[in-house]
Amino acid sequence: MAATDWSAKQYLKFEAERTRPSRDLLAQIPLNSPRNIVDLGCGPGNSTAVLLSQYPNACVAGMDSSPDMIQKARETLPRVEFTVDDLSTYTPQEPVDLFFSNAVFQWLPRGQRLKTIKRLMQLQPSGGVFAFQVPDNLAEPSHVSMQETAADGAWSEVQSAVRDSFQSPQEIYDELKPLCADVNIWHTYYNHSLENHEAVVEWVKGTGLRPFIDPLSPADRDAFLKAYLGRIQKAYPKSVDGRVLLRYPRLFVVATRN
Ligand SMILES: C[S@@+](CC[C@H](N)C(=O)[O-])C[C@H]1O[C@@H](n2cnc3c(N)ncnc32)[C@H](O)[C@@H]1O
Repeated sequence: MAATDWSAKQYLKFEAERTRPSRDLLAQIPLNSPRNIVDLGCGPGNSTAVLLSQYPNACVAGMDSSPDMIQKARETLPRVEFTVDDLSTYTPQEPVDLFFSNAVFQWLPRGQRLKTIKRLMQLQPSGGVFAFQVPDNLAEPSHVSMQETAADGAWSEVQSAVRDSFQSPQEIYDELKPLCADVNIWHTYYNHSLENHEAVVEWVKGTGLRPFIDPLSPADRDAFLKAYLGRIQKAYPKSVDGRVLLRYPRLFVVATRN
């Protein structure tokens, strides 16, 4: 696993919470029996397993740019075809009835996201569905604290690590609607009860913190995480049972081809 690769082990520490949005997304997909399904950015296969249980007769495949994630996905679901590939160039071999993507497109550069979605949608048959979910949490204390920590310390490598915001629902609708009979967009705010403040840090260490801490030396990484934890302790109160509520807004889109 390369130093900057994703870690399936770290990511799966919060598997139940991270997989729940894929079930909520799936619940709104207007397809009874899609034949070909691709899980874009399938990670360790957790979202792929949700697709398989909903559509046991479909041909389900998964792709992801991380070798570590794909290795874990193959171990977990040996009968599924998983490929290491990058979304910016990925092209399926056959028409796909359902493209599904849970918590992936926010990692593409802003200018690539809707362009990639539209390129793949144009390959779909009429009635095909493109469904995706992305976190909408850059304004949450968990993410503002990353930026503040980066700006406050001697970590010049990470000053520009901030992920850019996702397109607004209006922008998404206006871009996708010319290709679609229907574009269904909504937000859900999860409030995850985590064991303590350290658990908030563990959660984002597997995802949003990666661009901030991956470029740092081990010593600087430890110092960054300590400073970040201090901010998290100030930003989130303890609940009555000593746990910490992590508010987590997510944006969902289900687009049906015309
Ligand atoms: C937050 S994980 C989501 C995993 C899984 N879909 C789930 O529901 O939990 C994001 C995944 O997107 C993948 N990813 C990020 N950029 C990508 C790209 N350009 N092409 C393909 N996969 C990408 C990462 O390797 C990672 O596995």
